[in-house]
Amino acid sequence: MKKILIAYHSRSGTTEKMANYLAEGIRIAGNDVEIANISTIKKADQLAGFDGLIFGCPTYHKDMTGGMKQFLFVAERANLLGKIGGAFGSHTHSGEAAPMVFDTMLHVFKMDMIDLGPLNMTEAQMETDEGTKACQQYAKALCEKFS
Ligand SMILES: Cc1cc2nc3c(=O)[nH]c(=O)nc-3n(C[C@H](O)[C@H](O)[C@H](O)COP(=O)(O)O)c2cc1C
Repeated sequence: MKKILIAYHSRSGTTEKMANYLAEGIRIAGNDVEIANISTIKKADQLAGFDGLIFGCPTYHKDMTGGMKQFLFVAERANLLGKIGGAFGSHTHSGEAAPMVFDTMLHVFKMDMIDLGPLNMTEAQMETDEGTKACQQYAKALCEKFS
């Protein structure tokens, strides 16, 4: 059984909803998952001991949030080299944040990122079954990287 951390930021709850469906997918795949709002993560050692890490951030003003930028500076000190990773986020029309977070995890932290790229869902999709399934399938695909 692998242990996966989902760390997310969410202002109005949609990215948090994605985090919960991703967690469900991880549990269905038989793995252990911890979900944390990034506001609770202040130190790099809080990111230690996980086999995989998934970071989530919504898009505001065509950017990731300020909180996520600060969190990524904390994550930089956690030595995530080679760890399996994924990124996700909710948006309405442009969706810059999830790809930005994904790129930082890939190119700066040099993590072993999921081939699917970031899971970038619209708020409208997350109100349908399609959104639920997309999150669960993304989690399943991430878990398959362990086998
Ligand atoms: C002030 C404001 C600015 C926003 N800017 C963008 C944007 O630039 N691009 C985009 O795709 N969505 C934008 N959105 C929509 C949010 O990304 C969307 O509501 C998302 O689902 C919020 O996620 P959350 O509920 O996890 O906070 C904006 C929303 C607000 C309120």
